[in-house]
Amino acid sequence: MASDFSSSGSLIERRERVVCPGVGRQSGLTAASADGAILTDHEGGRYIDFAGGIGVMNVGHNDPDVVAAIREQSGRLLHTCIHVATYEPYVELCEKLVEIFPHGGSGTKAMLVNTGAEAVENSIKIARQATGRPAVICFTGAFHGRTLLATTMTSKVNYKTGCGPFAPEIYRLPYPAVTRHDDERTVAQRELARLRAAFKDTVRAEDVAAIIIEPVQGEGGFYVAPNEYMRGLRDICDQHGIALIIDEVQTGFARTGRWAAYEHFGVYPDLSPWAKSMGGGLPISCVIGKSEFMDKAAPGTLGGTYGGNPVACAASLATIRKMESLGLNARAERHGGIIRDRFNAIADRVPAVHDVRGLGSMMAIEFNDPEDPGRPGSALVAAIIDRCRDRGLLIIPAGVSGNVIRVLAPIVISDDDLMRGLGILEEVAVSLASEPAHSHH
Ligand SMILES: Cc1ncc(COP(=O)(O)O)c(C=O)c1O
Repeated sequence: MASDFSSSGSLIERRERVVCPGVGRQSGLTAASADGAILTDHEGGRYIDFAGGIGVMNVGHNDPDVVAAIREQSGRLLHTCIHVATYEPYVELCEKLVEIFPHGGSGTKAMLVNTGAEAVENSIKIARQATGRPAVICFTGAFHGRTLLATTMTSKVNYKTGCGPFAPEIYRLPYPAVTRHDDERTVAQRELARLRAAFKDTVRAEDVAAIIIEPVQGEGGFYVAPNEYMRGLRDICDQHGIALIIDEVQTGFARTGRWAAYEHFGVYPDLSPWAKSMGGGLPISCVIGKSEFMDKAAPGTLGGTYGGNPVACAASLATIRKMESLGLNARAERHGGIIRDRFNAIADRVPAVHDVRGLGSMMAIEFNDPEDPGRPGSALVAAIIDRCRDRGLLIIPAGVSGNVIRVLAPIVISDDDLMRGLGILEEVAVSLASEPAHSHH
C-alpha cells in the first residue's frame, strides 16, 4: 500500500513528499543516466553537463575504467572499517596521494574520509592538535561545507539560516577578491596588511592554529587569489607558527590544469583537504599534510566508520590513473583557454558582463543587472541558467549574490560538446541581457 502511494506522481512530486526541503533543489531536472559529459533525464532529454555534479566529474561520468574498478573491488571486499582491519586499497591510495601531492617538510602523510566537509573538519582538528591553539581564520565568500564547523567557516548566510550557534574561535577576513577592474598588487597588499592588523585588533597570532583558504574560491564565485597574497600568507604562517590549510576540494585533481591549484602559486600548504573529483563519482575525501603536523594527531581522534571505504578507494585509484593516462591537466588548460576566449567574446557583446575570471578550466563569467549596473545580475543569471537548460545545457551559478555562472564541465568533454555548450550560453546571454528585466522572472 505504502509503495503504491510513494511511487505515484512524477519523480519531483515524490521527492517533495518525502525528502527534507533543507536539501536544496536548484531545478526540476531529473537524472536517469550519464556518460562522459552528457546527462540524460527521465524523459530521454540529453544535456551537455557544465556542472559535473558540482566539480566531481573531472574524469567524466561513468568512466569505464572507474566502473570496472568499482565492480572488481565490490566483489572482493566492501567494508571492514580501517580502524578494525587494514586493507590494501586504503594504504595504496594514501601512497599515491603523498606521491602526487608532496607537502615538503620531513615527509607527507594522508588520511581518508568521505566528504569535503569532513576533510575540512579533520584538517582543522589536526592543526589544533599540532599547534595546541584554538583559533581559525577564514574568509568572506568561503565555502567549506555543511557540517557545523564547516558551516561556521562557510560565508554565504543562505547556507547558515537558523543553524547556529556556530563553532567558537572562527574569525573571518575579506578574501583578496580581484576582478578585471582591480589592480592585483593593490588588493594583495591591502589584504595582507589587514591580516597583520587582525593580529592586533581581532585575535592574537599566538592563538591561531590555522588559516584556511581556497586558492580559487568555488561557491564564492571563482575568484583567484593573487600570487603575492598566497606567498605573503605562507610567510605570515611561517613567522607565527600557524598552519596554512589550502582547501583544494573544488580546485584539485586537474580542474585548474594542475593536480593542485597551489602549484600555480608555488606555495605549499601544511595541510590540505580534498574531495569531489578524487573519487570519480564515489564519496571519498582526504587530508594530506606534512608529517610534522599529521604525526601530532592522537590515535582515535580522526576517521570514522566508513572513511576510506575499499570500493571508494578503488574508484579513486582508477580515477587518478585515468587522469594520468589522459593527460587531463593539459586538457584542462586547453579547455580553459577556449572557455576564456568565448567568455571574453560574450563580454564584448553584453555590457552587463562585469568580469571574466578563473584558472585553468575553472572559469566563470559574472553579470551585473543590465538595468542597474551597480547591482549584481542575480535575476539575469537565474534566467540564463533556466533557458540554457531548456536548450540542453546544464550549468550552475556561484557567488554570494548568485550572479556568476561557472563552468565545472567534465574535463573529458569533447571539443564539439564544449563548443556547442558555449554557443548555447552565448546565444542565451546575448538575447536575455537585451530583454527587459521583468522577463527574467
Ligand atoms: C572548497 C570546498 N570545500 C569544501 C566543500 C564541501 O564539500 P562536501 O560538499 O563534499 O562536504 C566544498 C563543496 O562544494 C567546496 O567547494
